[in-house]
Amino acid sequence: MKHLLQINTSLFGEGGQSTGLANTFVNNWKEAHPEGVVHVRDVAGDAVPHLTLERFSAFIAKPETRTPEQQAIAGYSEMLIDELKRADVIVLGLPLYNFGVPSSLKAYFDHIGRAGITFRYTDKGPEGLLKGKKVFVFATRGGLYSGTPLDTQTNYVRDFLGFIGMKDVEFIYAEGLAMGDASKDAAIAKAKQVIDGIMNTAKQPYAVASVAA
Ligand SMILES: Cc1cc2nc3c(=O)[nH]c(=O)nc-3n(C[C@H](O)[C@H](O)[C@H](O)COP(=O)(O)O)c2cc1C
Repeated sequence: MKHLLQINTSLFGEGGQSTGLANTFVNNWKEAHPEGVVHVRDVAGDAVPHLTLERFSAFIAKPETRTPEQQAIAGYSEMLIDELKRADVIVLGLPLYNFGVPSSLKAYFDHIGRAGITFRYTDKGPEGLLKGKKVFVFATRGGLYSGTPLDTQTNYVRDFLGFIGMKDVEFIYAEGLAMGDASKDAAIAKAKQVIDGIMNTAKQPYAVASVAA
C-alpha cells in the first residue's frame, strides 16, 4: 500500500493556487491508487513554531536527559519526520511569498532537519537518511521567475530535500498568476497539462511504483 504525504503551505488554505494544483495531482493519484493512503500536513493552518534555542536544545539533548517539555518538543519534530518516513510520494504546495518560501515551510524544514535522524555526517560528508521517495513540488508565483536568478526557491528546496535524502524532486510551475486573467488561466492550464503528463507516464509504469519498490 502506497502512502502520499501532501504538504500545504499556502496562507489561503484550500483556496491557495498551490494547494489547488497539489489537490489536482493528489486526486489523480488517488484514482490511480485506490488502495493508497493520503495524509495532509497543513503547515500554514496548523503552524509549525519557529525554531528557537529552547526547541533546538530539546532536539540535541540526549533522549534520556530530556525534560518533559523537551520530550514534547522533540516528539513533535519526530512525529513530523515519521509522516515523511511513511510516505512513498510527497506533494508540496510552494507559493512564492516576498521573494522566498513561506516562513511556515522554513519552520517545518527547521523541524525535520535533525542530525542522526534525517541526516548524518560520515567521513565522506553528509548523508541524507530519507531515501527512496519521489517529491512533486507545485510552485505558484505572481510573477515570472523560473530559470532566472530571482528564483530563490527551486535550488533551496531541492538542496534541502536532497540533504535529507530526497533527491528525486520534480518542480511543476504556475507563474504569472498576478499578471491578468489570461496569464493566470494559461499558467494553471499548463500546470494541469504537466500533471496529466505525469499521470499518463505513470500508467506505464509509474515512477512512484519504482520508488516504492
Ligand atoms: C504575502 C504574499 C507575498 C507575495 N510575494 C510575491 C513575490 O514576492 N513575488 C511574486 O511573484 N508573487 C508574490 N505573491 C503572489 C503569490 O506568489 C501568488 O499569488 C501565488 O499564487 C500564491 O500561491 P498560493 O495561492 O498557493 O498561496 C505574493 C502573495 C502574497 C499573499
